[in-house]
Amino acid sequence: MVISKEKKLKVVSLFSGCGGLDLGFINAGFEVVWANDFLPEAVDTYKKNIGDHIIFGDISKIKSKDIPDNFDILLGGFPCQGFSIANKKRSMEDERNFLYKEMLRIVKDKRPMFFLAENVKGLLSMHQGKIIEMIVKDFEDLGYKVNYKLVNSADYGVPQQRERVLIMGNRVGVENVFPKSTHGKDLKKHISVKDVVSHLSDVRISDYPIKLKNKTIHNHIARTNVHDVFWGRKNKVNQHDVCDYLKEWRAKSEISTKNVDKHFGYKHTAGHWFRKDNNSGSVPTPEDWWELKKLLDFDSKYDKKVTELELKPIRFEQSLRINNWDKPSDTITATGPEIHPNKKRRMSVRECAIIQTFPDDFIFCGSLGNMYKQIGNAVPVLLAEQVAKSIKKNILNNYEIISKANRRNRK
Ligand SMILES: C[S@@+](CC[C@H](N)C(=O)[O-])C[C@H]1O[C@@H](n2cnc3c(N)ncnc32)[C@H](O)[C@@H]1O
Repeated sequence: MVISKEKKLKVVSLFSGCGGLDLGFINAGFEVVWANDFLPEAVDTYKKNIGDHIIFGDISKIKSKDIPDNFDILLGGFPCQGFSIANKKRSMEDERNFLYKEMLRIVKDKRPMFFLAENVKGLLSMHQGKIIEMIVKDFEDLGYKVNYKLVNSADYGVPQQRERVLIMGNRVGVENVFPKSTHGKDLKKHISVKDVVSHLSDVRISDYPIKLKNKTIHNHIARTNVHDVFWGRKNKVNQHDVCDYLKEWRAKSEISTKNVDKHFGYKHTAGHWFRKDNNSGSVPTPEDWWELKKLLDFDSKYDKKVTELELKPIRFEQSLRINNWDKPSDTITATGPEIHPNKKRRMSVRECAIIQTFPDDFIFCGSLGNMYKQIGNAVPVLLAEQVAKSIKKNILNNYEIISKANRRNRK
């Protein structure tokens, strides 16, 4: 591994997805020589926009000998489901069998100068911090100096509040340097959603590329399962009165709350209809009301009030619409975006991609849901680029130390 300003530093990328992290490194002047993912649509997107060096397949089935040698940096946002609290029963030993072990294996077998992993903020609190401790120790045991940092993408000029943990390690005797924030208090102003996507607000969504002021807009498609109205109660219902009324009828019928729940197949819902403490009660839905009437045989005093519904407009604040239009957006997730503030659609794939700082000519492949997933899973390109630049600067600034370490490593 000879380092010089002229030669591009080489990257191998695991869990590459559609390539947000990789594109950031490429933009910063790195060369990605091998990448891998097992989501076919993400691999298609990667190939279309970045290159054919991505290999489709499960990393746990790929042997280290089939991955190139002599690269400088290993990237990988390993999934952390294996560490989930839901798997509490598993011992820590078993936990080690999950996917970050694949990253560990490749660091061990290939000994890159640096590695960088990205993960969700929750990783830091998993098992009261024991998981992150374990990860750091495992890489330290391979001779790497390891540090991690929680960063918020908005502080790096990304129009999105997205908190993620970056774990960085090197075996060449230098500090791990993370990029400094550029936006926020006493720095540049955070970028808002409006700043970056308002030009698309009035552009109709389309399955085909759209021409807009000499620019081609790709993937401006969106889920349209958005309603401006909902079925709500026609009449105002006083929940305390209904609760007292139902309590009385239940007592008369001598059916226990538990048995009412049993009848409905609910665990606790029915209990809320007869709450002793009225404030935490709830009024049954019309469907449940009629079923309850069969059971308790109450009179018709509240029938109309409780069961008459009408279509009502959804008020802005009830509608799950994006509420950060004038600020960085909330985290773009893999499961689906928020609703556009003034359109009958969710944020489009392109709008989400812009918020994740993908360039306009980056085209996503796959079904609508799958495109949203790839984008929601990605590291914002701009954040990745800044991390890459700080690693590159660190390497070039410490040329002597690193060359010596590399010579020692070869002996
Ligand atoms: C958080 S995403 C990574 C996103 C990527 N770093 C980016 O910036 O676009 C994690 C990726 O790991 C992939 N993955 C999960 N398990 C895998 C496995 N066993 N082998 C290969 N890829 C896997 C998923 O398909 C997903 O694309």
